[in-house]
Amino acid sequence: MKALVLSGGSGTRLRPFTHTTPKQLVPVANKPVLYYVLEDIARAGITDVGIVVGETADEIRKAVGNGERFGLRVTYLPQEAPLGLAHAVLIARDYLGDDDFVMYLGDNFVAGGIAGLVERFRHERPDVQIMLTRVSDPSCFGVAETAPGGRVISLQEKPAFPRSDMAVVGIYFFTPVVHKAVRAISPSARGELEITDALQWLLDGPYDVRSTTIAGYWKDTGNPADMLEMNRLVLDGMEQGTEGEADASSELVGRVRIEAGARILNSRIVGPAVIGPGTLVENSYVGPYTSIAENCRIVDSEIEFSIVLGDSRLTGTGRVQRSLIGRNVTVTPAPRVPACVRLILGDDSRVEFT
Ligand code: G1P
Repeated sequence: MKALVLSGGSGTRLRPFTHTTPKQLVPVANKPVLYYVLEDIARAGITDVGIVVGETADEIRKAVGNGERFGLRVTYLPQEAPLGLAHAVLIARDYLGDDDFVMYLGDNFVAGGIAGLVERFRHERPDVQIMLTRVSDPSCFGVAETAPGGRVISLQEKPAFPRSDMAVVGIYFFTPVVHKAVRAISPSARGELEITDALQWLLDGPYDVRSTTIAGYWKDTGNPADMLEMNRLVLDGMEQGTEGEADASSELVGRVRIEAGARILNSRIVGPAVIGPGTLVENSYVGPYTSIAENCRIVDSEIEFSIVLGDSRLTGTGRVQRSLIGRNVTVTPAPRVPACVRLILGDDSRVEFT
């Protein structure tokens, strides 16, 4: 069995982070989303992985290399334009040969991973196995209409009026019959070959398309709150450990990971939380579900339920909550003008204040 990982697209949805980073490389708990995908595939015992890349190919190649570090053999499959998920299967035909494969979207995450599902697929081997999950915003997904008992009757791609709240998860198990389906369909209204249409073609034919319902699923729907949610899922499963140092007047409570070269001085860290390599936390409070990346300085500040990317500085802030802070950002009180707010914000930034 092989894996096909989709890592194309320009990723304009998690702005502002994706102005500078492909969405699959946005870090969650200090690790790119795509690394969780590749680790999950390796854990499921799959070694051959084709990664479909688009305009951000160079960055993806740089981050993943030949896959050795994950115990994988990676082959890059360039897609000339983002022409749809089914189109990605079309161009991967030679690479996939007649093998079964799992198609895994590079910005999807399932808590608990796919190993058990791979095992089950290998054993039962229906033509196709998909996963469904209940979501609050079905119109951002492929949506399944199911009969009592769970059999899928029909699928719609991002419908304005969803017939259910069961979204199709971006991880699909296929036997080679899918190649027939992707050749049979035509582009959708948005000009893409939709995997949803290929699945519907199989549902309409004499094929065994099975679904299973899962929980603990995340994908980027364009809402920044999604990133905080994935951060929460990942930190919930994280192992604690202290490679950096915490002084005697600091307190680490619960599941906290302090990475190499990080220093915690006179501060309180309440987990689950991760403090990245080389970061300084001084006279501060870092609360649950917070990921601080590498080489940051958090001084005289309070922050919780937030993500801070590398090389950023927070000094003398009040309590910062539910915030996404990018790279090389400075947050500090305005000097000599106590009653005003002074902002230098990049495109697509958003600030909320009392
Ligand atoms: C794609 C699929 C959609 C699925 C989603 C899961 O959407 O077309 O059916 O629910 O992945 O991530 P997109 O990548 O366009 O958001």
